[in-house]
Amino acid sequence: MTSTASLPGAAAGPVEDLAPVIRRLGREERAEMLAHFLRLDEKSRYFRFGYPAAENTIRRYCEMEPVLEPVIIGAFIGGTLRGIAEIRPLENAVHQEAELAFSIEENWQSLGLGHTLMAEAMVEARLKGIPKLQLSCLPDNFRMRRLAEQFGAHVTRQTGQIRCEFSLQRPGKLTTAGSTAWQ
Ligand SMILES: CC(C)(COP(=O)(O)OP(=O)(O)OC[C@H]1O[C@@H](n2cnc3c(N)ncnc32)[C@H](O)[C@@H]1OP(=O)(O)O)[C@@H](O)C(=O)NCCC(=O)NCCS
Repeated sequence: MTSTASLPGAAAGPVEDLAPVIRRLGREERAEMLAHFLRLDEKSRYFRFGYPAAENTIRRYCEMEPVLEPVIIGAFIGGTLRGIAEIRPLENAVHQEAELAFSIEENWQSLGLGHTLMAEAMVEARLKGIPKLQLSCLPDNFRMRRLAEQFGAHVTRQTGQIRCEFSLQRPGKLTTAGSTAWQ
């Protein structure tokens, strides 16, 4: 899976001519993933991990050898990995559910890249037959919440976090939201 797209939010400014390349990352690209995580600004890192994760913690996270292989979708801009969508199967889940997470570097946020990665993640999850995706974010992560809602998530508030659940068996809304990712 590799695709290119224009950034709808980047009609003017330094990123106007840069089209992201969206593709899956292989295990051998963990160094790129780590470098991307370490480039996240403080707030984005906090939003991504749910706490101010230290470099060593992020290193260990990238080196993890999970029993069930995750699907990592990357957004490369000008050859550099600027955004990631992770689909990580939950090892203890009865019905092959998976956890979803996003990280986009600060200068590339609010340009529609999250929308594109979400649409790709939904396609990948459906292809893998995953029936349900879960995503957790902090209560003040309004952008993530808005994005999840656009893709039909059922959103609930839990202690200290927002939980978004995507049911991929339900036809309609997800397909509609995903198909309008890029014009
Ligand atoms: C959250 C994140 C994935 C969103 O991706 P993005 O590329 O910045 O977002 P998009 O440009 O696709 O915009 C998503 C929606 O949020 C809306 N939005 C943007 N800023 C917002 C804000 N401050 N409040 C509410 N909605 C906001 C956008 O308008 C868009 O909705 P629209 O299509 O109706 O206009 C990205 O900002 C990110 O990686 N942040 C840091 C890490 C993180 O928060 N991860 C989530 C937890 S796993």
